[in-house]
Amino acid sequence: MRWNAPETTNAYEAFIAGRFEALDQTLLPTRVEWRQWRTIESVWEGIKALRVRGAPAIGISASYGVCVGLQTLFEEGAHPSAESFYARLEECAQYLATSRPTAVNLFWALDRMTAKGRELRANGASVEDAAGALLTEARAIHDEDVALCRRMGRYGAQFVKDGGGYLTHCNAGGLATGEYGTALAVFYWAHEEEGKKFRVFADETRPLLQGARLTAWELLQNGVPTTLACDSVAATLMRQGKIDAVFVGADRIAANGDVANKIGTYSVALAARANGVPFYVVAPRSTFDLALDSGDQIPIEERAPEEVTSPYGRVVAPDGVDVYNPAFDVTPAELVSGIVTENGVVSPVTRETIARIVGENQMAE
Ligand code: MRU
Repeated sequence: MRWNAPETTNAYEAFIAGRFEALDQTLLPTRVEWRQWRTIESVWEGIKALRVRGAPAIGISASYGVCVGLQTLFEEGAHPSAESFYARLEECAQYLATSRPTAVNLFWALDRMTAKGRELRANGASVEDAAGALLTEARAIHDEDVALCRRMGRYGAQFVKDGGGYLTHCNAGGLATGEYGTALAVFYWAHEEEGKKFRVFADETRPLLQGARLTAWELLQNGVPTTLACDSVAATLMRQGKIDAVFVGADRIAANGDVANKIGTYSVALAARANGVPFYVVAPRSTFDLALDSGDQIPIEERAPEEVTSPYGRVVAPDGVDVYNPAFDVTPAELVSGIVTENGVVSPVTRETIARIVGENQMAE
C-alpha cells in the first residue's frame, strides 16, 4: 500500500493532494490491480473484505485511512476548526477499529494516530500542521514496519539451512506488511542475502486461500522454490521428514505467549510437536498485547458462512447447512519453539522472556 502524493517537502500539501492506494488482494493471483480509497468507508470496507489484510498491513492501512477520513474536512478549500478536526480524528479511529477484531496491530496503529493528535492539540498546532503531522505519523508507521520486517528476516534466517524444507500457513509476506513480510521475510533474507537453497511448502489456507493465492504468488515472484499443498497435507509432509521447521505470522500474542493466527495454525503446531519439528512465530512487537493474560482473551473474528459454502462464487455445500467459520485460532505458548521479533528471538516462550525482549524500547543490534 502507499500514500501516493506529488514530491513535495510540505507535509500538508502531501496530505491534501495525496491518495491512499493499495493492491486489491482479493483479485490476486490473476489480477494485479491497485485501487484508490477516497473515503473512510471504502477503507473500512477494504479491510473488512480482506482487500488489504495481514496484521501489520491492516494497521498501516488504518493509519492512512485516518488521513483519508480527515481529508474530507478540507474539501473545496474548507478550513475546519480545531474542534471539528480533532473530533473527526477520534471518530475516524473509532470507526476503523470496528473493521476487524483480532489483529491488534489495527488498534495499536489507531492508538498511535490518536495519541499523536492529542499531542498536536496540546501543543496548539494549526489544523494544517496537524494534518501534515498525522500523515507523517502514518508514513512513519509504514516505514518503521518495512525496516523491522527486514530485521525479523535476518534474525529468523538463522533457522533456515541449505537443502531444508519449510512450511508456512496463510500469508505473512510483503502483502501482509509494509513490505517484505514477517514469516516470509525469513525466507527472503535466507534466499537473497545468504544465498541458501531450500524449499517452502505453502498451505493453501482454507477457506479464503491466502496461501494459494498470495503466498505462492509472492514467493514465486521472488524466486523462492515453492510447493503448494492442501492444508490437510501438512502433517504428512512432516511425517515424511520433508519439513525442517514451520514459520508463521501472528495477529495477536498474549503476555503468556499464546498466539492467535489464521485458522489452521493450531493444527499445524500440533502436527509439528508430534513430529519433532520446530514451530516459529515471526511477529513485530506491535503484534503483542501484553494487557491480555492469555490467548483465551483474544477476540476471534467469525466470518460469513458463504466463505465456506460458496467460496469465490462456486456453491460447494447444501443450502441451509449450519457453518462455523472462525477466521483465527489460538496456538498455546507451549507449542511455540520461538517468536522472532525485531528485537531478537523470544525462546523459550515464557512471560519473562516476552516481557524482557518485547518490553525493550530500543531495537537490539
Ligand atoms: O485474515 P487475514 O488474511 O488477515 O489473516 C492473516 C494472518 O493470519 C497472518 O498470518 C497474520 O496477520 C500475520 S501477517 C504478517
